[in-house]
Amino acid sequence: MASFYLAVLLIALTPCRLEAVEDIVRFDCYPDDGATQQLCEARGCAWEETQNPKAPKCFYWAPYGYRMDGNIRDTALGSSVTLRRLNTPARYVNSADVDPVTLDVEMHTAKRLRIKFYDGDNQRFEVRDKMPHIPAATGKAPSQEYIVSFRQSGPTSAFALRVTRTATRAALWDTSVGGLTFSDQFLQISTKLPSSYVYGFGEHERDNYRHNMDWRTWGMFTRDEAPGPPSNGVNKNLYGMHPFYLCVEDDGKAHGVLLLNSNAMEVALQPTPAMTFRTIGGVLDFYMFLGDGPEDVVRQYTEFVGRPFMPPYWGLGFQLCKWGYGSLDVVKDVVKEMQDFNIPHDVQYGDIDYMERQMDFTIDPVNYQGLPEFVDQIRRDGMRYVIILDPAITTNETEPYPPYTNGTELDVWIKNGDDTSQPLIGKVWPYYPGVTVDPDAEWDYKVENYNAYSVFPDYFHADIDRWWGNFIKDFYNTLKFDGLWIDMNEPTNFVHGSVNGCSNNKWDNPPYLPKILGPNIYSKTLCMNSEHGGTKHYNTHSLYGWSQAEPTQKALREVTGKRGIVFGRSTFPSAGHFEGHWLGDNTAKWDHLHKSIIGMLDFGLFGMPYVGADICGFFFDSQPDLCQRWMELGAYYPFSRNHNWVLGAPQHPTHWDGAIADAARDSLQTRYTFLPYLYTLFYQAHTQGSTVVRSLMHEFIEDKHTWSIDRQFLWGPALLISPVLDQGAMDVTAYFPKARWYDYYSVNSERQGREVADAGQGRSLSLPCDMDCIPVHIRGGHVIPTQGHANTTVYSRRKPLGLIVALDEAGEASGSLFWDDGEDIDTVGSNSYRMITFSVTATTLDITVERDGYTPDPELHYETIQVFGSPAMPTDVTVNGQNAMDNIVKKTADKVWHLEGLSLSMAEDHKITWTLPDNNASGAEVSRARPVALLLAAMAVVLANVNGHVFT
Ligand SMILES: *[C@@H]1O[C@H](CO)[C@@H](O)[C@H](O)[C@H]1NC(C)=O
Ligand SMILES: *[C@@H]1O[C@H](CO)[C@@H](O)[C@H](O)[C@H]1NC(C)=O
Ligand SMILES: *[C@@H]1O[C@H](CO)[C@@H](O)[C@H](O)[C@H]1NC(C)=O
Ligand SMILES: *[C@@H]1O[C@H](CO)[C@@H](O)[C@H](O)[C@H]1NC(C)=O
Repeated sequence: MASFYLAVLLIALTPCRLEAVEDIVRFDCYPDDGATQQLCEARGCAWEETQNPKAPKCFYWAPYGYRMDGNIRDTALGSSVTLRRLNTPARYVNSADVDPVTLDVEMHTAKRLRIKFYDGDNQRFEVRDKMPHIPAATGKAPSQEYIVSFRQSGPTSAFALRVTRTATRAALWDTSVGGLTFSDQFLQISTKLPSSYVYGFGEHERDNYRHNMDWRTWGMFTRDEAPGPPSNGVNKNLYGMHPFYLCVEDDGKAHGVLLLNSNAMEVALQPTPAMTFRTIGGVLDFYMFLGDGPEDVVRQYTEFVGRPFMPPYWGLGFQLCKWGYGSLDVVKDVVKEMQDFNIPHDVQYGDIDYMERQMDFTIDPVNYQGLPEFVDQIRRDGMRYVIILDPAITTNETEPYPPYTNGTELDVWIKNGDDTSQPLIGKVWPYYPGVTVDPDAEWDYKVENYNAYSVFPDYFHADIDRWWGNFIKDFYNTLKFDGLWIDMNEPTNFVHGSVNGCSNNKWDNPPYLPKILGPNIYSKTLCMNSEHGGTKHYNTHSLYGWSQAEPTQKALREVTGKRGIVFGRSTFPSAGHFEGHWLGDNTAKWDHLHKSIIGMLDFGLFGMPYVGADICGFFFDSQPDLCQRWMELGAYYPFSRNHNWVLGAPQHPTHWDGAIADAARDSLQTRYTFLPYLYTLFYQAHTQGSTVVRSLMHEFIEDKHTWSIDRQFLWGPALLISPVLDQGAMDVTAYFPKARWYDYYSVNSERQGREVADAGQGRSLSLPCDMDCIPVHIRGGHVIPTQGHANTTVYSRRKPLGLIVALDEAGEASGSLFWDDGEDIDTVGSNSYRMITFSVTATTLDITVERDGYTPDPELHYETIQVFGSPAMPTDVTVNGQNAMDNIVKKTADKVWHLEGLSLSMAEDHKITWTLPDNNASGAEVSRARPVALLLAAMAVVLANVNGHVFT
């Protein structure tokens, strides 16, 4: 601590201060608008010009903030310190900073600690209290992989905290910069970081998965805002709020940090590398997860906030939606076309136009007459139906509208802060009943003159299940939906604050407004002084969508008796336990293909693996080439749904010419082939918290090149997807980290199983890729379970199984398969599933049923086994001791062979053994052959540079 200030002080005494205090060691002391030298110095900070205009002119340079008072106390969970304000100016003249502040360090596990700064009298809002599903820590971990130290050089100097990774001495946190500030509505802490590889924070649109540390500020506060570039220099804060980051240390170790705080906040990143958290309420409640690897961080994070829910198998099928089909007849036509074109299609949606005037729990009696019967029909054919629900409830119906009257009786609405006997009134969808609408009127005119008054349910209300839950159940009597899509739950409001605006109070006019969109904090939402969840909406605003997820999931499960899917627009840490997420109202433009990968990687980090973007784009009209490439990419979204808005032209796969329908069918059939693998990844996410869509970095941390890759992604450890993301491009540059990789192009079965030229190290290759292609590669060392595709998962789940055995350098591979009925609520908890492992060592594949708690009806069989990367064709193959040479099919190259026409029961263990020609018999021989392979591969790479072709 002392050292930093001392250094600054010494340099500051030299004549040229401009050069002395380098930009990168400055921490912004005046992030507010309107900084001047006078205001800056009144805060006790220094003012100097900068070289980089983004760096702060006003910065901390003398002790600021808090000092330690008394000794460090041992507590049941760790230690505690009292902090007292230094004699420096308060943040805001009108409000004293909190004094004393208590700092608790809790050592929950060897790899998880909590650092909490709070008011000594515990009067402030804490998010943790709203999350009963997160168990409290019970004791201090017996050993820790981190050291927490407090530093303070003297009684008038500021206190600092440092967290060190014991094994490497890396300083994960070092707050000896800036100054801790803890005033009522401005809480700030800065820390140096061990590296500039930072990921996470959301929800935002970003150009790269890895953060740019060049003075970027990211506001976080849930908002109905479509993804897009910065607006007036402000990075848009989107629907969800995720104050969680991952940092990869220079040696490849990784840690994650959650700030469990729901108030409007921002995080400022700077090249030091360092970051500053600024929130305007609550407490500073940090949780740190030590990894060691990025994948471990996500596991530890989801262990804490709640593991991702297990989606039903059908939730992995292809889904189709459009806002504004216009009528049930159009929906019927679309569904029929999809069937006629034989394109897999599991889920059809009803967006808000299925409702009568967009009112929850109603059906448009004219345009959607017969919807319940239609839903029954498609469900009999193996499809599913998902409906949208919005939170706001209209108050102006002239006919009985029980959702409003019953809710009023139960008093479940968010209350007007100026008169808490009244609900807060805003406006969302429905027009007044019977109003004649001028279709050409402007949006604002319509909102003012046609849109009805609405109330907003408080999903924290003790009676919420009796209201929301009961209406969901009641509506199920009318319509047999399988999933619920909860939208508009930031919550959005078409008037700012309320129909009467907001009063002048400290919540609606906070002294500091983080870098979020809107002229004020209540823009497009509710007044911050409204009463919500037993506190001010100011505190609970960003928890709104999150709080809706659990009661929605509960009601859905109760009424359907199945796990179903809930997915929401506005999310918060731990939302993945209850729901999935789509990346919101994106746009039909090319860069949103790339952005969708970044968004999926972000939400994977946030513990929400069930995620995807609207395929072909939500806003504006899609284009054939864009939609085709997007269908190809979208086949690899865990949540794979084509959807667009009311004014957009149709864009479902069969709308376009036959080539696009063919490409969509082909990619989706490949997706369905891989569903057993994808489902198993979801089981692993659900039970161990691992990611599904995975950054290459998580698997190849030793290869620093992977730390910045976000145009490719993995499914789990083994499937590499390298989509074409640019208009007109007929090739794609893909990076292959060091491993054996096998080609699995969906459209070119000739190529399936061919090994990508092995250079023995990571390398970029240019892959030719015409409009029908999306490169997919399988990583050696893995066994991937597959299954025949069909029009829906109901039928694909009855098809024969297959295995792809992709051998690694040592000739080995392993994998697993999770199988259950696909929709029962807790098959994991009740052990009603089958778990099978696959293992190849020394030319033997063992298939072992590890657990047999579920029997498919009819029983399933493995029909094919494809082996990639075999050193040679086997001279002999036996299956469970029987000669199976008749089943062998030699493919394109010697390294690929298949066993076909098998019928091996999935309920039993099996042993497949093969014999290679003498000198090819063992893994050791394979590695001895490598120098030749290396040489050939090196030549192949040179060829690639010349003509772009690698598969020579
Ligand atoms: C899917 O195919 C099966 C027969 O294989 C058929 O019975 C069913 O109606 C089809 N479903 C749809 C939605 O096309
Ligand atoms: C709509 O309902 C509100 C009460 O929520 C009432 O004040 C308003 O007058 C009503 N407007 C119309 C046009 O009925
Ligand atoms: C709404 O209230 C009425 C009257 O108390 C009751 O009969 C009905 O069941 C309630 N509806 C729901 C869905 O709770
Ligand atoms: C393995 O067999 C293949 C084809 O039969 C041959 O080209 C290769 O040289 C053999 N490897 C060794 C190590 O002998």
